[in-house]
Amino acid sequence: MKYRHACHAGNFADVTKHVALIALLLRLTHKPRPLFFLDTHAGRGRYDLTAPQTAAEAKGGILRLAATPRATLPALLARYLEIVNGPDAGATARPQSYPGSPRIAAALLRVGDRAAFCEIEPAEAAALARELRGDRRLGVHCRDGFEALGALLPPAEKRGLVLIDPPYEDPAAELEHVAAALVETARRWPQGVLAAWYPIKLASVAARFHRRLQAAGLERVLAAELCIHPDDSRASLNGSGLVIVNPPWQLDADLRGAWPALHALLAPDRAGRQGVRWLAGG
Ligand SMILES: C[S@@+](CC[C@H](N)C(=O)[O-])C[C@H]1O[C@@H](n2cnc3c(N)ncnc32)[C@H](O)[C@@H]1O
Repeated sequence: MKYRHACHAGNFADVTKHVALIALLLRLTHKPRPLFFLDTHAGRGRYDLTAPQTAAEAKGGILRLAATPRATLPALLARYLEIVNGPDAGATARPQSYPGSPRIAAALLRVGDRAAFCEIEPAEAAALARELRGDRRLGVHCRDGFEALGALLPPAEKRGLVLIDPPYEDPAAELEHVAAALVETARRWPQGVLAAWYPIKLASVAARFHRRLQAAGLERVLAAELCIHPDDSRASLNGSGLVIVNPPWQLDADLRGAWPALHALLAPDRAGRQGVRWLAGG
């Protein structure tokens, strides 16, 4: 596998994904009952923003947000910055490192909640285990995350969230794999909230992914997309999106409240597009 998330950590697409993850966990932790979080493609949990390639991509992502006065941001984006910077950082802090999805989830999960993080690369999984050491709510599994969907779900808690975030080295094949995994997991665990991140290079490929989910008969599916380049332009990545099966109540409003401001920050030239819409139900 050639993909190295360290090269992309904190870029505009990572920011989009993590803001949505925070919105999901904030909604799910409103109710007191414990929840289970499964991160199928977890990564190493923390990335060095001073490394040159990471810093170069993060400049158009987290570093741009971090330079924005907190008071001018919608509440969800302010909360995102607070989690990235840590509870003790001041309002003008510039992060030196960037938390991956496991670290972000760990900041929001409560004492009675539980999480499993799957990472197939042994060195990444070992780094993640070190990063999360000592927190007994959190388990790190060096295994295939797709296979873990069958093995670890439905969880004993009965309620929870899955994040599917593969590297998309072969986007068309991986999108089909993700669609099949969403459909099968929703069949086996109808109450589960399932989120999958996807890259947008060609708009037609993302639209095919949406149609595939609609044709499978999933009842409630929300899609939140944010592109910083026009559709089909030749940048390596024009944007990204998340599909969310069974989104929690009012998640659509939460994302709609933050997405225009997030787009304005990530695409200061206003190129591209943003939107949150129901693919099914609503
Ligand atoms: C996009 S990165 C994950 C980023 C992480 N979710 C975050 O938001 O911080 C994808 C990760 O999946 C790992 N990976 C690739 N194939 C996998 C598989 N089949 N099962 C589990 N992990 C896998 C890669 O090593 C990489 O660390």
